[in-house]
Amino acid sequence: ANEKVKQLIDLHEQSVKLYHHILTNTKMGQPALDYLHNRGVTDEIIDTYQLGYAPGQRLLKPFFDQRKIDYQLLRKSGLFSEDQEGNLRDRFIDRVMYPIRTSSGQTIAFSGRLLTTNSDLPKYLNSPETEIFNKRKILFNLDLARSNIRSDQPAILFEGFMDVITAFQAGIKSGIASMGTSLTEQQIYDIKRITHHVIICYDGDTPGQKAIKRAIDAFGESSKLDIKIVTVPDGMDPDEFIRKKGGPAFQELIKHALAPIEFELNYLKKQYNLDSEVDQSHYITEAIKLISGLDSSISRDLYLNRLADEFSVDKQVLIQQLAPLTKRVP
Ligand code: GTP
Ligand code: MN
Ligand code: MN
Ligand code: MN
Ligand code: MN
Repeated sequence: ANEKVKQLIDLHEQSVKLYHHILTNTKMGQPALDYLHNRGVTDEIIDTYQLGYAPGQRLLKPFFDQRKIDYQLLRKSGLFSEDQEGNLRDRFIDRVMYPIRTSSGQTIAFSGRLLTTNSDLPKYLNSPETEIFNKRKILFNLDLARSNIRSDQPAILFEGFMDVITAFQAGIKSGIASMGTSLTEQQIYDIKRITHHVIICYDGDTPGQKAIKRAIDAFGESSKLDIKIVTVPDGMDPDEFIRKKGGPAFQELIKHALAPIEFELNYLKKQYNLDSEVDQSHYITEAIKLISGLDSSISRDLYLNRLADEFSVDKQVLIQQLAPLTKRVP
C-alpha cells in the first residue's frame, strides 16, 4: 500500500485506541459505558470490537495537533468536518464508536451511535467516503467472521452492527452486515468467494422484510447458491431477539430458516385477505408467478402441489397457468 494509505490507516488505529480508552478508563466515558452495559454488551465484547466513545467535546483534533499531524492528511481522513474557512472539527461528538475494519482487520472508518434517540441527529453517523473507505465495499465483522464461515458454517447476513455483535457474544460468530445500505455487487462477490451458503437475517419489522426481498433478488438465481431466510418474530431485530430469548433460541430459528421461495410465498400471502375468494384467486395467480421463477422443475412441481392442496384447487388448472410462464431456456 502507498504511504498515504498507511498514514490514513494509522490515524484510524490511533483514534480507535483513544476512543476505546475514553470509553473504558475515563469518567467522561461512563455514560457510554453504562449505555453499552445496559444493552447487555460485555467488557469482553467491548474489547474484541474495540468499541469506544467520542465525547461531547473535541478530542481528536487537539490530540493529532499535538502530534503535528499534517493538515491535509487530517482533512482526508474523514475523521473531521470542515467549515468554510477550512477549520477542522471532530466529526464524531457524543457517540458510541464502532470501528469499521477491512477483512484483514485494518480500521478504515467509524460508525458512531447516539446514546439516545430523542434528537434530530441521525442515530448512526458513518465516516464519509475517503481514499480508504468505500461503504459499498465493506462488510462489517468480516475480519472476525471469516474463519467461522466455511462450507459447513454459513455466513449470516444481518442488518445492523448490534445484531452482529450480540450474535457474536452469544457464540454465533459468522455474522456480517452491510453498512446500513442495501447489498452491493461487490459485497455479494466477496461473500461468494468465501461461501455459497448464506442466511439472511434482517429485522423482523416491515423495512427489514422488504430488504430481505431486495437481498434475495440481489443474490440472484443460482443453483450454486444456498440462501436461506430467517424471519425474526414479533417485529424484533436479531439483537432484541437474542437478548430476550437467548442464543439457543436463535440457533433454533436458524435451523428452521426458509428457502427464498417459501419466504416470498409467506410474504406475498400477508398482502391478501385470504378469507375472500377474490383475494385467494389473486394470491394464487401471483404465487404461480413466483413458482414459475424456480430453476428446478421438481421444485416447481412441489410448490404447485402445496398450492393446490392449500386451496383445494385442481392442480391441472395451476399447471395450465404456469406453463406459459416457464417457456424459457431450461
Ligand atoms: P440499534 O438502534 O442500535 O439497535 O441499531 P439497529 O442496527 O437496530 O438500527 P436499525 O435497525 O434502525 O438500522 C439498521 C442499520 O442501518 C444500522 O445498523 C446502521 O448501519 C444503519 N442506520 C440506522 N440508522 C441510521 C442513520 O441514522 N444513519 C445511517 N447512516 N445509517 C443508519
Ligand atoms: Mn481494552
Ligand atoms: Mn431495521
Ligand atoms: Mn437494534
Ligand atoms: Mn435493527
